[in-house]
Formats: sequence, C-alpha cells, structure tokens
Amino acid sequence: MALLVALLIFLFESSCFVFLQADASGHHGGLSLWSQRAALLQWKSALRSSPALLDSWREGTSPCSSNWTGFACSVMRRGHGTTLAVTRISLPNAGAEGTLRELNFSALPFLTHIDLSFNGLNGEIPPAIASLAELSYLDLTSNSLRGQIPFEIGNMGRLSQLGLGLNNLTGPIPASLGNLTKLVELVLNQNLLTGSIPEELGKLTGLQSLGLSDSLLSGQIPESLGNLTALSILHLYGNKLSGPIPSSLYATSSTC
Ligand SMILES: *[C@@H]1O[C@H](CO)[C@@H](O)[C@H](O)[C@H]1NC(C)=O
Ligand SMILES: *[C@@H]1O[C@H](CO)[C@@H](O)[C@H](O)[C@H]1NC(C)=O
Ligand SMILES: *[C@@H]1O[C@H](CO)[C@@H](O)[C@H](O)[C@H]1NC(C)=O
Ligand SMILES: *[C@@H]1O[C@H](CO)[C@@H](O)[C@H](O)[C@H]1NC(C)=O
Ligand SMILES: *[C@@H]1O[C@H](CO)[C@@H](O)[C@H](O)[C@H]1NC(C)=O
Repeated sequence: MALLVALLIFLFESSCFVFLQADASGHHGGLSLWSQRAALLQWKSALRSSPALLDSWREGTSPCSSNWTGFACSVMRRGHGTTLAVTRISLPNAGAEGTLRELNFSALPFLTHIDLSFNGLNGEIPPAIASLAELSYLDLTSNSLRGQIPFEIGNMGRLSQLGLGLNNLTGPIPASLGNLTKLVELVLNQNLLTGSIPEELGKLTGLQSLGLSDSLLSGQIPESLGNLTALSILHLYGNKLSGPIPSSLYATSSTC
C-alpha cells in the first residue's frame, strides 16, 4: 500500500500531463501556470523587437512543458497538491527591446532568477519588481535603463546577486539596499548615480564584490565599508569622491 502511494506520488510529480490538466481545471489566481504564461505572452507582445529567440513562446503551449527558450520551471507544493511554476528567466544577450513595465511581476511570484543582461531594455526599473519575494538573482547589466533605482528593491530580502551596471540610472543609491543582508555581489558600475555612498551598505557583511565605479558619486567613502570583511572586490574609481580613504578599509580591527 505504501509503495502504491509512493508510486502515485511519483507519477503525479513527474507527469506534465497531470499538471496541464490541473492547470486547465483550476483557477489559482496569480499562482496558476495559466496566469504565469499569460503574463509572459503579454510582455512578449509589448516588446518592441520580438527576436526569433522568443518564437517558442506561443499561445496554447506551456512555458514549462514546451521548452520555451529562456525559461526554467520547478515543481511547487500547493496545499495537498503540486503545481509547476516558472522560476527562472534567462535571456542574456537576446536582442530583447522594450521595457519591464509590461511584465506583470505579481503573476510570477515564484521567480528566483532573472538574467536579462545585455539586451535593449529601456525605461525605468518598475518598483513592482520588489514583489518578487523569492528572487535571489537579478541581472539587468548593460541595457538602457534610466530613472532611479527603486527604494523598494530593499525589500527583496532573498537577493544575493544584484547587477544593474552599464545603464543610465540616475539619482542616489537607495539606503534601503543595506537591508539586503544576503547580498554577495552588488554591481552598479557605469551609471549616472549621484549623491554619496550610503553608509548602510556597511551592513552587507556577506558582500564579496561591490562595484560602484564610473558614476557621479560624491562625498566621502563611508567608514562602515570597513565592516565588509568578506569583500574581495571593491571598485569605486571613476567617481567624484573626496576625503580620505577610511582607515577601516585597510587597518585590521585586531585587538593589539
Ligand atoms: C497581473 O497578474 C495578476 C495575477 O494573475 C492579475 O490579478 C492582474 O490582473 C494582472 N495585472 C495586469 C495589469 O494584467
Ligand atoms: C528542449 O530543448 C532541449 C535543449 O535545447 C532539446 O534538446 C530538446 O529536444 C527540446 N525538447 C523539446 C520537447 O522540444
Ligand atoms: C545613456 O544616455 C545617453 C544620452 O541620452 C546615450 O547617448 C547613451 O547611449 C545611453 N547609454 C545607455 C547605456 O543607455
Ligand atoms: C530598509 O532600509 C531603510 C533605510 O535604511 C529603512 O528605513 C527601512 O525601514 C528598511 N526596510 C525594511 C523592510 O527593513
Ligand atoms: C561595524 O559593525 C559593528 C558591529 O557589527 C558596529 O558596532 C559598528 O558601528 C560598525 N561600524 C561602522 C563604521 O559602521
């Protein structure tokens, strides 16, 4: 009996057919694969150039069982059952042009990984992106994004890698980034960021790489960066920083 149950569970978890059935029969709000697919197709139709790479994203097919280019899915537990969910978007250097505004993030709550680096995305980074509570990897390097880095990104507590370099972002680095205590890599280089480096970044004690070079940052380098003991890469060149290099950066906090 136990074996039969185990076998049934195995069949249930491994059969795409079952998922598609469940998907078609139930309305799970923002959680159903149907609404995830709808959000992705809506975004595709809003992209200015919809490169050949995106041809596999089609009406009537599933991002999970039909091999949509650039997506990966995982099995999610839902109550007593399971469902498939889109967890990764990986389309680096795919020639995608358009904005992120039309991407309905609230329909894609299971995303853990977004790599849209080296594309032609323009417009602003929508604050709604912060609703992706599971996201641990966000790479938007080398697009044409402008406007400010949304303060709300500081709520994305799972983020371990954040790459926004090589864009046209303006305004200050939000102090709220200091809340992202799981960050290992923070790269914002080659933008038009102004204001000073927030001392809150000194709270990111897991940080191994911090890239803030080639922007318009001014003011002094905060002492608090000396608390980043895991840091092995620190790029601050090409800014308008002034004042001394804080001793916290080179003096070990030894007890001598
Ligand atoms: C975004 O997705 C959510 C969840 O599926 C849905 O309720 C909402 O209407 C969608 N918003 C837009 C603008 O399509
Ligand atoms: C899915 O994609 C992989 C890798 O591109 C390919 O080898 C495989 O044949 C595809 N499967 C289907 C069902 O299209
Ligand atoms: C930034 O803006 C300038 C001026 O509008 C433009 O020439 C440049 O190509 C933009 N760079 C990026 C990376 O979008
Ligand atoms: C994030 O950081 C900002 C500024 O440092 C702070 O005001 C805010 O309360 C923090 N938010 C959370 C959710 O921790
Ligand atoms: C460094 O961290 C310690 C404790 O973790 C804190 O007391 C101190 O204020 C921090 N130093 C700076 C310069 O922020």
